[in-house]
Amino acid sequence: MSTNIQEVKQLLEKAKAEGLAILNSATDEASLEQARTKALGRKSPLSRARSSLGSFDPDQRKELGQIANEVSRALEEELTRKGQAFRAAEREARWERERIDVTLPGNRPEVASVHPLARTTWKIVDIFLGLGYRVADGPEIELTKYNFDALNTPTEHPSRAPQDTYYIKDRPDLVLRTHTSPVQIRTLETEKPPVYVVCPGRCYRRDEQDPTHLNAFYQIEGLAVDVGITMGDMKGTLEVFAREMFGDDLDVRLRPSFFPFTEPSAEMDVQCFVCRGAGCRVCKGEGWIELMGCGMVDPFLLEWVGIDPERYTGFAFGMGVERGASLVHGVNDIRQFYENDLRFLRQFLGAG
Ligand code: PHE
Repeated sequence: MSTNIQEVKQLLEKAKAEGLAILNSATDEASLEQARTKALGRKSPLSRARSSLGSFDPDQRKELGQIANEVSRALEEELTRKGQAFRAAEREARWERERIDVTLPGNRPEVASVHPLARTTWKIVDIFLGLGYRVADGPEIELTKYNFDALNTPTEHPSRAPQDTYYIKDRPDLVLRTHTSPVQIRTLETEKPPVYVVCPGRCYRRDEQDPTHLNAFYQIEGLAVDVGITMGDMKGTLEVFAREMFGDDLDVRLRPSFFPFTEPSAEMDVQCFVCRGAGCRVCKGEGWIELMGCGMVDPFLLEWVGIDPERYTGFAFGMGVERGASLVHGVNDIRQFYENDLRFLRQFLGAG
C-alpha cells in the first residue's frame, strides 16, 4: 500500500471538513437525518478514509485510529448540536403558532331554554304528580278501535270522517290519534284500578290552521278510576289543578257538555286570572276561561276493558297544551309556538 500516514491524516482532516459542511447544509430535522448518513454512514468520506487504516502497522494504526475517532466524535457532536437547535426552533415556532391571549374575552356559549310548550307540559304534569298521578303513554298512530270504538264513538260520528281525521294510507283501521283519550283504554286494559294517570302527547286533526287551531297539537289527558269516585272528586281535583296553574284564589265552574266517552260530560272554566271575573281582553269579556273537557268515565268504557262498573267509577279530562301555554304567556296566535323564531322563543328564557 503506497498511501503514507501523512496522506491519511490529510484525508481525515478533509473528511472532517466535508462532514461538517454536509451537516451544516441541513435546514431542518428531516434533512439533518439525510446529512447524517452522508457525513457518518458507510459511504461517507470518513468511512472511506478509515478503510485505508488496515495497511498500517499497529502503532500508526492506533494513531490514525485516534484521529479518525476524534473526527467521528466532532461530527457526532455537531449532529447533536444541530438536532437540538432544530428541535428548539420547531418548539418556538409551535408556541408562537399556539399562542393564546388569555386576556381576550371568552366566547359565551348560547344559553338554550326549554320550549314554552314543554315547560307548560311539565308544569301541568308536575301538578298531577304531586296529587299522586303517574305518567302514561300511548302511540300517535292509533287503532280506530282505541281512538273511536272503545271510546263509545258511534260509527256515523263526524269525527271519524276523513275530512276531520288523518287515516293511514290503505289502512281504514289506523289513524293519527285525534286526542289522547285512547290512552285511557290502553291504560285500563293493562292495569287494574286504582288507576291515576296523566298522559301528555301529540294529537292530529285535519283542521284549517288559524290563530287558535293547528293540525298537530299537544293534549294532556287525565284519568282516575277507583272505588267510590264521584263528580265532586273530579271538581275538587281540577280546582286544585287550576289554582296551582293560574292562581290561588280563582274559582272554577263546570258547564254541561257532551263527549261520547264521559257521562255526564262537562267543560271546566277557570275565573280569568287577569281580570278575576270582571271581563277583559284575555277572557274576551266573559270573566271565565274555558280550560278543558271532562266528565265521569262512561260505564261503556269500563265494560269494554273488563272492569266492573258497579264497583268502580272514574273521571277523565283532556286539555290542550298550546291553549294553556298561550293563556299563561299571553300569546295570541298559537302558530308562533312552532315557527322557531328565536326572537319569540327568547321571551320565555327563565319564564315559569
Ligand atoms: N278527548 C276530548 C277532546 O279531545 C277531551 C276530553 C278528555 C273530554 C277526557 C272528556 C274527558 O276534546
